[in-house]
Amino acid sequence: MRIFLTGATGYIGGGVLDALVRAGHDVTALVRTNEKAKGVAKRGARPVIGNLAEPDSFADAVEAQDGYIHAAFDYSAAGGPSVEQTALQSIIAAARRPRTVASAAPATRFIIYTSGVWILGKTPEPATEDAPINPIAMASFRPKHERLVLDAADDRLRTIVVRPGVVYGGGNGMIADLFKSASNGLVRVIGDGNNHWPLVYERDLADLYARIAARDDAAGIYHANDEGDERVNDIVDAIKPYLPVKPDVRYVPIDEARNKMGAYADALALDQVVRSPRARALGWMPTLHSVAGNAARLLEEWRASRN
Ligand SMILES: NC(=O)c1ccc[n+]([C@@H]2O[C@H](COP(=O)([O-])OP(=O)(O)OC[C@H]3O[C@@H](n4cnc5c(N)ncnc54)[C@H](OP(=O)(O)O)[C@@H]3O)[C@@H](O)[C@H]2O)c1
Repeated sequence: MRIFLTGATGYIGGGVLDALVRAGHDVTALVRTNEKAKGVAKRGARPVIGNLAEPDSFADAVEAQDGYIHAAFDYSAAGGPSVEQTALQSIIAAARRPRTVASAAPATRFIIYTSGVWILGKTPEPATEDAPINPIAMASFRPKHERLVLDAADDRLRTIVVRPGVVYGGGNGMIADLFKSASNGLVRVIGDGNNHWPLVYERDLADLYARIAARDDAAGIYHANDEGDERVNDIVDAIKPYLPVKPDVRYVPIDEARNKMGAYADALALDQVVRSPRARALGWMPTLHSVAGNAARLLEEWRASRN
């Protein structure tokens, strides 16, 4: 299939790119610079230089595609939810374009939107895909964007929302941040550390995207997490034996953390247990089931990514 991918130079999108190329898809990747274009070309994609904020910059590229995967996010002051909304609207318009009668393309097109589990808020019960949402401040824009994508579905367009847990593996993300501070001798845990983080290994997550792309019957919301139900304290304890020096652990009260880091403090202190039954019904089986159970390997991956 011909697939247009945003975020191919990022953490989630990078893994997705590799999984799509491995599965034999013809991937067109939106990148922002010549240098990044060379990088994704080496990994097997056709680069298109453009910007989410300027849909004209990728308008030609989105026309000839069978599928669309949005895994980018512009965290800059000029970016944020409004840029994402503009980009999604352009992608949706392209995905809904009329079909030519003689087209050899697949019968249905698809769009996959990358959301996240923070849309659920604190989950008193294990949350499946049909659980009510209660977004934390950082995810307050997600319901609108999920709806935009889900409501664009018609009989020839499948629309999908993937809500990854906190991604781990390699050198990026919240777990890599934790490894870094632990290696530097001081871990700051927001709250009491007994809160659960729903987690997912990056390569397992990428496999789910490739699966959804290939399955004509995949549509709607998919949670993606390893169901390890780990507490932050479990992770911190598990990595200690593999560090040259045992780190100090400082528990930062939530108010103090909010003053220092704003709304991100609430994300770090969030207590969530999440289930992914719809993803599992597609035959998706995460290969890693926890950070704590794979601490030595994941620390090694993190160290390797820094060289
Ligand atoms: N990481 C997680 O644990 C996690 C969990 C759940 C949900 N999510 C969500 O998944 C999405 C991706 O997260 P991530 O961790 O993969 O982020 P990331 O590593 O920071 O990657 C962001 C990607 O977006 C691209 N990008 C940013 N602004 C752009 C623009 N204006 N035009 C074109 N491309 C642009 C970046 O390109 P450059 O290389 O040019 O910067 C990069 O490829 C986000 O919505 C995030 O909230 C992440």
